[in-house]
Amino acid sequence: MSFLSTTLSRVKPSPTVAVTTLAAELKAAGRDVIGLGAGEPDFDTPDNIKAAAIAAIQAGKTKYTAPDGLMELKQAICAKFERENGLKYTPKQISVGTGGKQILYNALMATLNPGDEVIIPAPYWVSYPDMVLLAGGTPVAIETTLENAFKLTPDQLEAAITPKTKWFIFNSPSNPTGAAYSKDELKALTDVLLKHPHVWIMSDDMYEHLVYDGFEFVSPAQIEPALYDRTLTCNGVSKAYAMTGWRIGYAGGPEVLIAAMRKIQSQSTSNPCTISQWAAVEALNGTQDFLEPNNAIFKRRRDMVVAALNAIDGITCPMPEGAFYVYPSIAGLIGKTTPAGTKIENDEAFAKALLEEKDVAVVFGAAFGLSPNFRISYATSDENLKQACARIAAFCASLS
Ligand SMILES: Cc1ncc(COP(=O)(O)O)c(C=O)c1O
Repeated sequence: MSFLSTTLSRVKPSPTVAVTTLAAELKAAGRDVIGLGAGEPDFDTPDNIKAAAIAAIQAGKTKYTAPDGLMELKQAICAKFERENGLKYTPKQISVGTGGKQILYNALMATLNPGDEVIIPAPYWVSYPDMVLLAGGTPVAIETTLENAFKLTPDQLEAAITPKTKWFIFNSPSNPTGAAYSKDELKALTDVLLKHPHVWIMSDDMYEHLVYDGFEFVSPAQIEPALYDRTLTCNGVSKAYAMTGWRIGYAGGPEVLIAAMRKIQSQSTSNPCTISQWAAVEALNGTQDFLEPNNAIFKRRRDMVVAALNAIDGITCPMPEGAFYVYPSIAGLIGKTTPAGTKIENDEAFAKALLEEKDVAVVFGAAFGLSPNFRISYATSDENLKQACARIAAFCASLS
């Protein structure tokens, strides 16, 4: 019998981490690799947030806290939900975890039984299906289309719901496409959900603040208050506040679910890092002034990358509303051959050849459940992006 658990055999390692690791290895070996795989801002954590962490250390705020977060942080989160989303939560309805990832994981672990289905629009953030599998549930991926800007339609949602559906995972703006749902688009989905009271909504709002061109972000419980009692509104400080390494995520939801998530966290990791929690209090309560200039930089890069990619024969790239990703289609390149003799049979072969022959690291679409595409993270310098796009153009032009 294997020493390793059968649970482990249900999941695969994160492909995005694999790409980032391979790119770093090639770089260490002296190759001039441009990595466009990482899902984190290239900005530094703002100084006021760093100062709050340093002050916490100096004041000896370095002990355990309640398993699912400091009261001061829960209050800051309640204030944020009310201020930015019009959602009223009390601290008892708030859970703080070690990153947004742990929050989602706790919620799935706390609720899924064998046979329970979780609807996940594809392309999806790589961790959703694997977290569902780890928790013993069944992921049900629904493929969106480029023609519909990678957004799920109400008909698709309706058709996917069965008596076994427990959760619908909703992620807007999306990783990996950057697509964000307008008020009307989201309302059309919440109208479907209203008809199915057994389905809960896990809204992953991690990229809420990263939207461009005046786009107005909305969350499901905000647009349809009748769903409040069965919605877990998830968020975190990782992306907008450039705090990926601090590991703080949070959610607001019904008390019974929050208590169940607390039970899991109290027997696994206990509280998220106390110092990071104090930093997150400052992130949420302090100035938000850096968001706008950061977004202006992201918008400039998005526009540049989308224009450069659409100028390449064989590539089609929709203009996303938010996040820092684009998800171009390479349908026009499938079946071609590289100068080194590799046949581009699918998006994985494309990404591999692009890295080997042109030193550009991207993540292939199959990893996110929709092909043939690849994901670029434009959270890197303008110079890197220009060079990377030029190399991608040269690579595509060299295919025969
Ligand atoms: C859609 C989405 N949700 C959640 C997370 C998790 O964020 P954290 O780093 O806070 O765990 C990520 C990170 O890449 C993400 O892209």
